[in-house]
Amino acid sequence: MPSTSDKIQCRLIVLISGNGTNLQAIIDACDSGMLQARVVAVISNEASAAGLIRASKHGISTHVIDHRTFKTRSDFDSNLMRLIDSINPDLIVMAGFMRILGPKIVGYFLGRIINIHPSLLPDYPGLNTHTRVLSDNAKEHGATVHFVTARLDAGPIILQKSVAVQSNDTADTLATKVRNCEHEIYPEAISWFAQKRLALIRDKAYLDGNPLS
Ligand code: GRF
Repeated sequence: MPSTSDKIQCRLIVLISGNGTNLQAIIDACDSGMLQARVVAVISNEASAAGLIRASKHGISTHVIDHRTFKTRSDFDSNLMRLIDSINPDLIVMAGFMRILGPKIVGYFLGRIINIHPSLLPDYPGLNTHTRVLSDNAKEHGATVHFVTARLDAGPIILQKSVAVQSNDTADTLATKVRNCEHEIYPEAISWFAQKRLALIRDKAYLDGNPLS
């Protein structure tokens, strides 16, 4: 029987492919009470993802769906969709999940799936953001939490945090700075959702009923 607190808490599934430092920040925020939510499962497409060990250490159930074992992207997506559905989360949190989801799964979970991206979107969608920022001599960089829609890294923005790019920054130092931003803003954005303050309505993100610009 679920306890009363289980019923009121927002159930999260976190999708990962690697280290899982964002997953850790989310777990820690739940544990500290800053985030009224609970990670009920972690799903990885990589069996060797270190984030799976982080999840197990916290008694969170883990699942691996290796994309290489499917003939098509859509077979992988269908399998993932079925697994997520069977766990029945309130929110799906993509945290370094290195697979592009197709329109069917995205449409099915629309408004209940968010992602974090290591740039100030709409600048620098895609990969290798830190190197691209440096080669452009950009003065500002950062991280973005957004709703996932069918267009890659282009869903409505929920929250961003920027960092100044210094002349001695390297891709590694920027990665660390941006990662630290991510660990602050991801739990915060999730807490808005958990408090039912955040919603996706007609392709716009709303906080407390006001559109987020
Ligand atoms: C983060 O930089 C995130 O923005 C990107 O992948 C990285 C994941 O890092 N999508 P971690 O696995 O949470 O440490």
